[in-house]
Amino acid sequence: MKSKHLMPTYGRLPVAFERGEGAWLTSVDGEKYLDALCGVAVTTLGHSHPAIVAAVKAQADKLMHVSNWFEIPEQAQLAEAICDISGMESVFFCNSGAEANEAAIKLARLYGSNKGIAKPTIVVTQDAFHGRTVATISAGGSSRHQAGFGPLLEGFTRVPYDDLEAVRQVAENSDNQVVAVLVEPILGESGVIIPSEGYLAGLREICDKNEWLLMLDEIQTGMGRTGKWFACQHEGVKPDVLTMAKALGAGVPIGVCAASGRAANVFQPGTHGSTFGGGPFVSVVGKAVIDTMKAEGAVASAAKIGEKLLVALRARLGDTELVDQVRGLGLMIGVALNVEIPNLLQRILDQGLLVNVTGGGKIIRLLPPAIIGDAEIEQIVDTIAAVLDDFAAKV
Ligand SMILES: Cc1ncc(COP(=O)(O)O)c(C=O)c1O
Repeated sequence: MKSKHLMPTYGRLPVAFERGEGAWLTSVDGEKYLDALCGVAVTTLGHSHPAIVAAVKAQADKLMHVSNWFEIPEQAQLAEAICDISGMESVFFCNSGAEANEAAIKLARLYGSNKGIAKPTIVVTQDAFHGRTVATISAGGSSRHQAGFGPLLEGFTRVPYDDLEAVRQVAENSDNQVVAVLVEPILGESGVIIPSEGYLAGLREICDKNEWLLMLDEIQTGMGRTGKWFACQHEGVKPDVLTMAKALGAGVPIGVCAASGRAANVFQPGTHGSTFGGGPFVSVVGKAVIDTMKAEGAVASAAKIGEKLLVALRARLGDTELVDQVRGLGLMIGVALNVEIPNLLQRILDQGLLVNVTGGGKIIRLLPPAIIGDAEIEQIVDTIAAVLDDFAAKV
């Protein structure tokens, strides 16, 4: 149902869903759709997972909200679980990915300020996406997201993605004002761009040498999506600051800025806060997500299913003229096309499949849940192949 009372911030597709189960959504018209988007990397365990539903119901019955002015044992338990899977030491809770990055940006500035740095500057990359608040569009590399929202926040210096030499140049020419590097381990919104092997390790080395914080935005890549709990673990790199959100909440709003080492205790009482952040309700759900992912081996499944899907997509689409490249890591996969196909999302949706099209309209981004089987893998591949074949046949 369209409404004149909603600000038209989204280009919405003409379908509404009323039910979700596992990898499947049912529309209000009773049509079934295979969800290879996961509400943009959120429902990694599938829709309405019984263990998550049980946690939601039990905690809603018990206690929904108290202020962070009191001890919140559920929050402490989730913090411990997050530190266990990430290797971080301390955690700040908020309500979204953008807020998690806002916290990281504030933390880096305070870290610099504590060191006597007058204009703390954060190295960020071209094509990055870190959220839609003023600070995060300023950190992000999209002129489309920034247009009309100036003046942007200062204190960022931009380098090309996957370019260590450019970061070294900043180190040499920055008057010692740089305090941190903020990057996505894989560019998500810009089209599943995977950097060269050694990129994160190289950044780690530069940060160590200059006493900068390495801050990784794992809001999309984290929580098992790439086949490890966090994408940086593929390279054995431990950041100083790690942000996460999305799949940690399985649909309830949560954001996390985690820190370790010299970043762990930068925030002190009164320096940052959030009314809802880490309330008992969302904390119990986040803990249930981690426990369930562990119990079901969801991270290993993401690696295994992702590899199967990647191989199948390459086998079927690799020689197709329309396809430039099929790339991915775990369940974060991009099919890069040579041409922009009009209404591509709608064409795929019409065949009962939910995906995303990004990277200037030429990259089909797949973010399916870590619970799909061979039949669903086949359906994803068949559907995309059929839509591309149909388009090719008519041009
Ligand atoms: C890498 C990355 N950072 C930040 C965000 C912003 O998260 P949110 O929409 O929860 O604010 C996203 C969302 O897509 C993201 O992919």
